[in-house]
Amino acid sequence: MLLLAVAFIVAFVLLLYMVSPLISPKPLKLPGAHVVVTGGSSGIGKCIAIECYKQGAFITLIARDENKLLQTKKEIEKYSVNDKQVVLCISVDVSKDYEQVENVLKQAQEKLGPVDMLVNCAGTSVTGKFEDIEVNSFERLMAVNYLGSVYPSRAVIATMKERRMGRIVFVSSQAGQLGLFGYTAYSPTKFALRGLAEALQMEVKPYNIYVTVAYPPDTDTPGFAEESKTKPLETKLISETSSVCQAEQVARVIVKDAIQGNFNSSVGSDGYMLSILTSGMSPVTSITEGLQQVVCMGVFRIIGLFYLGSFDSIVRRCMMQREKSESADKNE
Ligand SMILES: NC(=O)c1ccc[n+]([C@@H]2O[C@H](COP(=O)([O-])OP(=O)(O)OC[C@H]3O[C@@H](n4cnc5c(N)ncnc54)[C@H](OP(=O)(O)O)[C@@H]3O)[C@@H](O)[C@H]2O)c1
Repeated sequence: MLLLAVAFIVAFVLLLYMVSPLISPKPLKLPGAHVVVTGGSSGIGKCIAIECYKQGAFITLIARDENKLLQTKKEIEKYSVNDKQVVLCISVDVSKDYEQVENVLKQAQEKLGPVDMLVNCAGTSVTGKFEDIEVNSFERLMAVNYLGSVYPSRAVIATMKERRMGRIVFVSSQAGQLGLFGYTAYSPTKFALRGLAEALQMEVKPYNIYVTVAYPPDTDTPGFAEESKTKPLETKLISETSSVCQAEQVARVIVKDAIQGNFNSSVGSDGYMLSILTSGMSPVTSITEGLQQVVCMGVFRIIGLFYLGSFDSIVRRCMMQREKSESADKNE
């Protein structure tokens, strides 16, 4: 009887694996496609642009600093796979004025054709204790990280719907899956992207448009180096419980998931665990993905509770040390 039950479960899982590709989105063909990458002049965005260019795509890079854009264009062009490929640079602030963003994207589409994939990667971060963060930083981060993704997406969605094809990628963060010490200004902006992505995916799925939310871990980039300069000790110690990834590795995973039309894109075993834990009511693009979430959720919650316990004890230890050294200073 037990043998029969096991055989049934194995047969059922095998059947799911076989059926899964039939209901998954058709992969996007990158050769000849027009890929727009905001924040494409540095770090993860630059590596995403290189990865797409290596696969034959035409690239539009968007960022503010023109010199950095031109330097990156030259770097990317070294990876061309055919002499027709073009890298277009657009200098604009994605967070300020919707009409300006819409206009530059119109110009890019006139030059390189309709956008097949938009990667919203422009972003910035401020860390610190809640009470130490300047009030205007909360507004600025929401503008760049959230509205800076809304505007470009809003500008390309109508054409994608007309063409009944497209990919939109939102680069969130592991800090968009769990709130950590020091990230009161940053985390909410990255959580917001998840809400936007879920709602948008439900709207555009019938038009064969697929949305991907990427949750990169700490990644070695100029932005990360800048952020590390002002990180509170607690944030540093918590970050050190996992390793720092290379931008090329993160970019490869994001591009692969976007091509496949996967809603969720995570890197490494921590990323996998967090994505299962936070899957909630997010869309799945294969039966096997849903099955993994159902099976692993409980065990991962137990592991997650141990992590939370260790993070809390880091924060408590730092507070006690700080109070001790403050009272020692007073007594001197
Ligand atoms: N590195 C990490 O550890 C990590 C981890 C998780 C998530 N992320 C996310 O991944 C994305 C890229 O991070 P990164 O570390 O690669 O950053 P980065 O090296 O600092 O690059 C940021 C890019 O965004 C552009 N940018 C910033 N503000 C902009 C604005 N208002 N308008 C247009 N472009 C703007 C920058 O160019 P200009 O300054 O010239 O405009 C640059 O090209 C961000 O959204 C970040 O939150 C990073």
